[in-house]
Amino acid sequence: MSENKTSEQFRALSAPKGVPDYVPPKSGEFIYVRDEFARQARLAGYQHIELPVFEDTALYARGVGESTDVVSKEMYTFQDRGDRSVTLRPEGTAGVMRAVIEHNLDRGYLPVKLSYYGPFFRYERPQAGRYRQLQQVGAEAIGIDDPLIDAELIALADRCYRAVGLTQFRLELTSLGDDSCRPQYREKLQDFLFKLPLDEETRHRAEINPLRVLDDKRPEVQDMLGDAPLMLDHLSDESRAHFETVTATLDDLGVSYVINPRMVRGLDYYTKTTFEFVHDGLGAQSGIGGGGRYDGLMAQIGGQDLSGIGFGLGVDRTVLALEAEGVRPEGVGKRVAVFGVAIGDEARSRMARLIDALRAAGVSADMAYGERGLKGAMKGADRAGATYALVLGDRELEADRVAVKNLADHTQVEVELDAAAVARVVRQ
Ligand code: HAM
Repeated sequence: MSENKTSEQFRALSAPKGVPDYVPPKSGEFIYVRDEFARQARLAGYQHIELPVFEDTALYARGVGESTDVVSKEMYTFQDRGDRSVTLRPEGTAGVMRAVIEHNLDRGYLPVKLSYYGPFFRYERPQAGRYRQLQQVGAEAIGIDDPLIDAELIALADRCYRAVGLTQFRLELTSLGDDSCRPQYREKLQDFLFKLPLDEETRHRAEINPLRVLDDKRPEVQDMLGDAPLMLDHLSDESRAHFETVTATLDDLGVSYVINPRMVRGLDYYTKTTFEFVHDGLGAQSGIGGGGRYDGLMAQIGGQDLSGIGFGLGVDRTVLALEAEGVRPEGVGKRVAVFGVAIGDEARSRMARLIDALRAAGVSADMAYGERGLKGAMKGADRAGATYALVLGDRELEADRVAVKNLADHTQVEVELDAAAVARVVRQ
């Protein structure tokens, strides 16, 4: 009994199922992708919004849609100690809307352009590229229904992927119409679906959310859907003109896309322009990002009736896609630029001061700790991915100088034992 207890106590613990860790050097790629996406959003005028990681459960029921898998099956919902029902955020758009309304951002200059990043939580069946804690960088432009904004946002997402070095992805695009044409289309699609020999569950889905049936992956269902009516053929004049301006602007901006009239997104709030970025190197979980317009959402969660459009880019899947393409972002794996190698006690404490002064001057630097020989200490420089090693032994110390070795081209210079002198060399 006590033996069992002891072994249980000392059992190594692992991360919760389906939750990835990012440890070095992978964490370098992760940060690189996330920060580059966020930087691109800032370049386009999107300001950061830091959102709570959990919200009132009602927000997602109202904002994302109760018939979606995300809300009905995948939420991490629990009662807190004050007996409130709270939910770990499964996505960011509903939270952004809530914050915009709560802080009256929609009463100022429009569009409100916001971006965010961080973890989201979905109780999905874990598999390669599908996690229960997933990371996104998102952007939302709220308040103006101008098709030029749709194109800007889509071009921004496209630029994000290209900026980190991805090339083998495609942008799929469609329009889901608006209130003036979607109800009629929905009826047409239901008429079509109800004539098919569908199983009970699928028929039920056709009643609640017929568009979802188009996304059924089973070949026997897909075989029956060849002649299904498509939203894109039933758009109102206004929605059609809106979509045409979006595609024409994307053409102008040189962003390539394919029209996918059967695209079905996992969230219910979408209207008009809807898109997904797909990467073929990832197997089943090929969606590296997606988004669209959500013109009814703000009113639905208690705000003004303002339009909006946004995207969520999957950071985890982008990291996997970079690996699939064999792209290693430059600088990733480099811990510091400069690495100090000092032999002897006095040299080591002198080196500690030099390294500290270099950091204060903005040069990333580290040094070998512990008593090591020259060879062992130089290994540290290599492991750190440093471009320069600073070598300090008795001879250099006596001359008040330090050797600066360029580890890339194997050249070496000796300079004064002083941070400014070293910084001049390593900054060249
Ligand atoms: P979403 O399509 O549900 O959209 O998620 C966006 C991206 O997050 C996906 O394309 C995928 O790359 C990544 N992602 C989603 N679930 C997982 C998962 N389980 N594991 C790994 N990656 C995942 C949204 O969340 C919307 N809020 C996007 C949006 C913003 N629409 C308008 N504004």
